[in-house]
Amino acid sequence: MGLGKKKILVTGGAGYIGSQTVRELQKAGFDVLVLDNLSTGSADSVNCQLIVGDLADAVLLDKIFAQHNIGAVVHFAGSIIVEESVLYPEKYFQNNVVNGLNLLNVMVRHGVKKIIFSSSAAVYGEPERLPISETSILRPTNPYGETKLMFEKILGWYGSAHELSSVSLRYFNACGASLDGTLGEKRPFVTHLIPKILRVAARQDEMLKIYGSDYNTPDGTAVRDYIHVVDLAAAHVLALKKLDEDSGCFTYNVGTGVGYSVKQMVDAVMEVTGKMVMIEYSNRRPGDPAQLMADVAKIKQDLNFSAQYSDLNTIVSTAWNWHKVCYNIGYDKTLSNHPSLQRRETD
Ligand code: UFG
Repeated sequence: MGLGKKKILVTGGAGYIGSQTVRELQKAGFDVLVLDNLSTGSADSVNCQLIVGDLADAVLLDKIFAQHNIGAVVHFAGSIIVEESVLYPEKYFQNNVVNGLNLLNVMVRHGVKKIIFSSSAAVYGEPERLPISETSILRPTNPYGETKLMFEKILGWYGSAHELSSVSLRYFNACGASLDGTLGEKRPFVTHLIPKILRVAARQDEMLKIYGSDYNTPDGTAVRDYIHVVDLAAAHVLALKKLDEDSGCFTYNVGTGVGYSVKQMVDAVMEVTGKMVMIEYSNRRPGDPAQLMADVAKIKQDLNFSAQYSDLNTIVSTAWNWHKVCYNIGYDKTLSNHPSLQRRETD
């Protein structure tokens, strides 16, 4: 049955990727409802009905599904810090698997048969070859990746038992901020590379530690596939449209297929911001693969997805602009005149 006028429930819709996706879903004409416990997300990022609550609360979930005519779920809510998952696996299995099961069970009880799931490139672990296709070996190297893989498998089994259709999107490195500077990555602990480099550019930290300079890569630093959050959000809209037409369990990488090294990111930040970024080389971070790059043929073929905003300049300039808004250090209104953004806004 098609989505028609039914609502889309977005769990974790107040977070970095969730809030951007809510915006894109609304632009595409969907009626959206957000459920978020606000543990890391922010109510300010949500421009639709927000229910503050947790997926652990099965009674609340039942009430939500009874009160709203929900046609599909886009499921972001979960814990996402790799290092934390190694120290406290129980938190990850609870939040990402057990609470996720609550969601699936309530969906089954209420006959809601479509779900888009935030998975991760972490399901692959250390890749055997590049680029990484969806059929590569799945061998997570930390509990975070393990929970994402477990949930993908659960979706497969629920698919056959309960006719639940799903799209699991395996994100590579999410980055950047909305083009208008109103939505971006704001977390209590900054662990991701680009926000960390920006903190150094903004003199909020003294220097960036580069974890490893002896990888087998062109400049010795690790290479990742960085995908702009607006592109990532657009992939969710395409995935939802697919489920509106097709049933089954689908899995896609979401990346660009292009890799940038840590050093290239630092150089890009210096170029965009005009600020010096002091670096220090330190040991490799345990568990970090040398290179991660997505094979994006499948998502291009099936969903007609290709990244539009994931060039280095757009990634860094939107992230920098957001960083300045967030830390109140002089939002650059002229960014809307930035050539790379202007080009897109007139598309
Ligand atoms: N890095 C540094 N210094 C820092 C922070 C990061 O050199 O201060 C390096 C890392 O070693 C890595 C690269 O920058 O080589 C990117 O690191 P991030 O922490 O930004 O991202 P990861 O590639 O480690 O992790 C991302 C997502 C995870 C996901 C994983 C999939 O953030 O959620 O990709 O492999 F699990």
